[in-house]
Amino acid sequence: VGGRLQTVTPTELVKHNKIDDAWIAIRGTVYNITRYMNFHPGGVPELMKGVGIDATKLFDDVHAWVNYQSILQKCVVGRLERTITADM
Ligand code: HEM
Repeated sequence: VGGRLQTVTPTELVKHNKIDDAWIAIRGTVYNITRYMNFHPGGVPELMKGVGIDATKLFDDVHAWVNYQSILQKCVVGRLERTITADM
């Protein structure tokens, strides 16, 4: 259904860990970054480090100032389902 947001489980997220099927979670939002891949100023290998996982910390470690919400606004898949863990 067009425009409908999914709730994405970590198990589903990790299935999209390939260069041509790349999802990433940042601060609870899941993005499909497949089409962004070749535009990443930091290069494909760097971006691939965060694919299929919650990459919030990786992202913030290198460029917390980057406005990914704006860049990826058309790429939102949905919200990441997660449980409460001690590292939150
Ligand atoms: C630049 C890594 C995800 C946007 C960079 C650079 C690195 C990097 C190392 C610096 C490149 C350089 O200075 O030569 C990563 C890693 C990511 C990630 C490890 C995932 C875990 C993203 C995402 C976006 C993004 C999701 C946007 C949607 C940018 C932008 C720059 C950049 C705009 C240039 C920043 C600047 O020059 O101020 N990235 N990146 N990155 N990345 Fe990422």
